[in-house]
Amino acid sequence: MAQLKRTVKVSTKTVEADDVTSFEFVATEGSTLRPFSAGSHIDVEIKPGLIRQYSLCNDPREKHRYLIAVLREPKSRGGSVAIVDGIAVDDEVTISEPRNHFALEPTARRVLLLAGGIGITPILSMAEALAHDGTPFEMHYCARSRNRAAFHDRITSSNFADSVRFHFDDKDAPIDLDRILAVHEQSYHLYVCGPNSFIDAVIAKAKAAGWAAGNVHKEFFTPSEDLDLDRERSFEIEICSTGERLKVEKDKSVAEVLGAHGFDIPLSCEQGICGTCITRVIKGTPDHRDMILTDDEKAKNDQFAPCCSRSISDVLVLDL
Ligand code: FES
Repeated sequence: MAQLKRTVKVSTKTVEADDVTSFEFVATEGSTLRPFSAGSHIDVEIKPGLIRQYSLCNDPREKHRYLIAVLREPKSRGGSVAIVDGIAVDDEVTISEPRNHFALEPTARRVLLLAGGIGITPILSMAEALAHDGTPFEMHYCARSRNRAAFHDRITSSNFADSVRFHFDDKDAPIDLDRILAVHEQSYHLYVCGPNSFIDAVIAKAKAAGWAAGNVHKEFFTPSEDLDLDRERSFEIEICSTGERLKVEKDKSVAEVLGAHGFDIPLSCEQGICGTCITRVIKGTPDHRDMILTDDEKAKNDQFAPCCSRSISDVLVLDL
């Protein structure tokens, strides 16, 4: 269960584009909102037991509100429909404090921002921050059409409008990733957010163009595949402090096994996309299934996401 911390009030609910609705949260009387940095997200308890993560898309200098935007996807796991249809202005909602696994690199001399669809949300907050700091950046926003591009008017009327290019599928204006990614230096950083296929394409092209892995940052919105029980195997985890060994059956997650034995692992998305549960590994080789750790971090095998990742070695010793 996520560590939800505070109650906020829905002050506005706005249709930003076809199937995209924004929610503005403000502090309840007598409280204040904690500051956040560009790229941060919050957990939102949509109804008891249903928690989803949403990136904050307002200017991080704003102290009086958090703004999120939700793509209503009837075919998804149900969170987006529940929040768009079920939460109204003046409702009180429980959220977590902002967390950031997608932060801007402060030493970057130039930044490339790539957004696909609803992936605009953290990217827009980043654009606000970069424009304010005076860091040169170029932003590309891909959407199926103008009507599906949330925050189009906010962007075109912003002080960074000249740094933004729109790419709409229905206008036959595809993004030319080869050209855009051809320019890079050691101090350039790339941030991409959107559907998994969009992110995968950008990452592959960036790698082929010679971008260093540490300069390419991504934020996924959708989790990877569910477990395929025919292909999974059981393994053991060892609690380093006590030597206790626990078996993880192929239909259970490490987090579930730990929770059943009294270990309080903080959880939120439970699908490898938020980073809340990251736990140190002392020995053994994790089978990384999360979308939070970078390739370099995964290669070190000294941490993993017990909500979704498993083990390649027969035993995984955890720093617990
Ligand atoms: Fe979100 Fe594990 S709980 S990555």
